[in-house]
Amino acid sequence: MAAPTQGTREFNPEVRGKIRFSDEALQTIEALMKRYPEGKHKSALLPVLHVAQAEADGWLSAEVMDYVAELMKISSIEVFEVASFYSMYNLKPVGKCVLEVCRTSSCWTRGAEDIVDYIGKKLNIREGETTPDGMFTLKTVECLGSCGSAPMLQCGAEYHENLTENRVDALLDRLRTEGKRKSYTDLDFQNTK
Ligand code: FES
Repeated sequence: MAAPTQGTREFNPEVRGKIRFSDEALQTIEALMKRYPEGKHKSALLPVLHVAQAEADGWLSAEVMDYVAELMKISSIEVFEVASFYSMYNLKPVGKCVLEVCRTSSCWTRGAEDIVDYIGKKLNIREGETTPDGMFTLKTVECLGSCGSAPMLQCGAEYHENLTENRVDALLDRLRTEGKRKSYTDLDFQNTK
């Protein structure tokens, strides 16, 4: 399945009446919910929020969360509780490439702090900030399960491991050249159809 793309319709993530996901995203959401038995479809909320985030320029506004709640026939607060708990969901606008640097023990002892500092200096932003061109956001997150290849970061569906300053340079150059938004949905949700 190809990654959902934002449709061509008028779309404003902060105006409820102007939110409508692409047909492909709506089909994906439907298929994700069908994975679960009748009445248990809200178990699909995590992957559905990834689809929603990819559709909505990388972040979940209150209005987008309301829209997701409506699609899933659950309450808005249930959506918000999940979206606000996990670091992979962004509740404010972000750059096309969100650099999520792991800061937990293995990565920390192997130089995560230096990597965060290096990226921050190179992009002239601090943690939580976005570059003025809207290309990069710098975040720190908890363990991403790749402790044996510390230090590492995630950007969309990609893991970048055993980071050094040279590898960071190459990564930022590549991402800038590609100029594309990176989403968790770049990793196919297999068997959703
Ligand atoms: S400590 Fe960084 S991936 Fe586990």
